[in-house]
Amino acid sequence: MRLQGKSAIVTGAGSGIGKATAQRFAAEGAMVICAGLSKADNQATVAEIQAAGGRAEAIEADISRDEDVANLVTRAIAAVERVDILINNAGQAVIGTVEEVSSEDWDRQLDVNLKSIYRTSKAIWPHFKAQGGGIILNTASIAGLIGTPGQVSYGVSKAGAVMITKCMALDGAKDNIRVNCVCPGWVPTPMVDYHMSQLDDPGAFQARIERLHPLGLGETQHIAAGFLFLASDEARWITGIALPIDGGLTCGLVAD
Ligand SMILES: NC(=O)c1ccc[n+]([C@@H]2O[C@H](COP(=O)([O-])OP(=O)(O)OC[C@H]3O[C@@H](n4cnc5c(N)ncnc54)[C@H](O)[C@@H]3O)[C@@H](O)[C@H]2O)c1
Repeated sequence: MRLQGKSAIVTGAGSGIGKATAQRFAAEGAMVICAGLSKADNQATVAEIQAAGGRAEAIEADISRDEDVANLVTRAIAAVERVDILINNAGQAVIGTVEEVSSEDWDRQLDVNLKSIYRTSKAIWPHFKAQGGGIILNTASIAGLIGTPGQVSYGVSKAGAVMITKCMALDGAKDNIRVNCVCPGWVPTPMVDYHMSQLDDPGAFQARIERLHPLGLGETQHIAAGFLFLASDEARWITGIALPIDGGLTCGLVAD
């Protein structure tokens, strides 16, 4: 058990990558606060963790709202006393080119995917300082490392997630606060299902995505494994990195 005695907040724990991460962390001994928009989804993750013998608690929170985030952090600290790890994973994907994305959707995308990282990190920072350290892990994306067509606001939000990771890593080092992010390739989740449902030819898109990943398509568990490593003591000298977990997608051009 690599996280015995630790506790973690995971946002977006009700589905996809967040759910897989919450389950893996609990299986490794952590007490997990499952946070996110949907009360029912958070509770379902908690129920599955508890049924497997793990420890977890659900807290409903909209990460785009200051008061929800303040409440989340306060309640999490009250529940576990010491929060060791914050995983900023919740997010959404606005699809569209600069011509297509509305001003409102642009703002919402950057708020939910990027400002939320600032918001939750700011709320937990004094707690981490007071207890002598902590770990912040963010879900960025390959779309934050390389350009992706038709995802302008999403890509910018994820590039911001990479950069806020590096800046907070520098600022947090003196207080033993480590900050890293993972950059997943495409892994099947409700977000990807929604994206596919919006396409004229999802089959062609699926085939293209499969070609782009030299190791083939991934799973949410691959991303959870990256988070686990970065949260573990084995990563204690690692801060400020953006770890691609993408089956080789960002290596370069793929042969025909
Ligand atoms: N699936 C992929 O291929 C992929 C690739 C790269 C990055 N990502 C990123 O992974 C993260 C998780 O996405 P996923 O693919 O698991 O999809 P998902 O839709 O299963 O998970 C997103 C979660 O975030 C929650 N959420 C959305 N807005 C929220 C808000 N305002 N407040 C609180 N919770 C909110 C949702 O309820 C949901 O549980 C996202 O940041 C996404 O951008 C996903």
